[in-house]
Amino acid sequence: MFPVVVKIGHAHSGMGKVKVDNHYDFQDIASVVALTQTYATTEPFIDSKYDIRIQKIGTNYKAYMRTSISGNWKTNTGSAMLEQIAMSDRYKLWVDTCSEMFGGLDICAVKAVHGKDGKDYIFEVMDCAMPLIGEHQVEDRQFITDLVVSKMNQMLSKTPIPSPQRPTATQQPQSGSLKEPEPNKIPPQRPPPQGCLQYILDCNGVAVGPKQVQAT
Ligand SMILES: Nc1ncnc2c1ncn2[C@@H]1O[C@H](COP(=O)(O)OP(=O)(O)O)[C@@H](O)[C@H]1O
Ligand SMILES: [Mg+2]
Repeated sequence: MFPVVVKIGHAHSGMGKVKVDNHYDFQDIASVVALTQTYATTEPFIDSKYDIRIQKIGTNYKAYMRTSISGNWKTNTGSAMLEQIAMSDRYKLWVDTCSEMFGGLDICAVKAVHGKDGKDYIFEVMDCAMPLIGEHQVEDRQFITDLVVSKMNQMLSKTPIPSPQRPTATQQPQSGSLKEPEPNKIPPQRPPPQGCLQYILDCNGVAVGPKQVQAT
């Protein structure tokens, strides 16, 4: 059963992840978890060669491999080498399947470790909050921009253009149907999609900061 990895709460960037070698240490960490007021999960530790990350942004797919340089079992902690690798049908199947499992995500990523036994172990799926990594982040941002703009145009073209009058308090829209996405928030003329898009880009900008890795 041991070693295992205990993952505490929803923290990212390798935080709150502990490798536990025996049941004595497990008891210690269990007592720490008991104080945290959050959930924790346990999974088998995979003796790995490198991490794999497959990302999908609309119809663009990329695969990366990350190898620890400093020797930490967490390849996102300490220094590591990140390389883009070829997309394969198998990788595409993984990420497409995960996308479909969650209702058809346009943006998502799958993380796996490649074990020393030669097998791949998928251990995490990310949605559009995934950080962008690697050399092609500018291109990735552009794919996200294009995707969001085309989705917004698709949604807005199904919505009748609201009258220039701002809705009054008595005309609050009812919550509900997809065809009327919050009409009180749509100004009379279509604005550039700054709000939502900027939010997504900001999120990625913030998330990507601490995850920078050293390239060789
Ligand atoms: N079960 C596991 N076996 C071996 N290595 C793991 C396992 N889970 C995570 N890792 C390593 O630790 C790193 C961080 O774990 P991860 O779950 O991705 O945390 P975070 O989401 O906080 O970045 C992974 O990139 C991987 O290298
Ligand atoms: Mg995580």
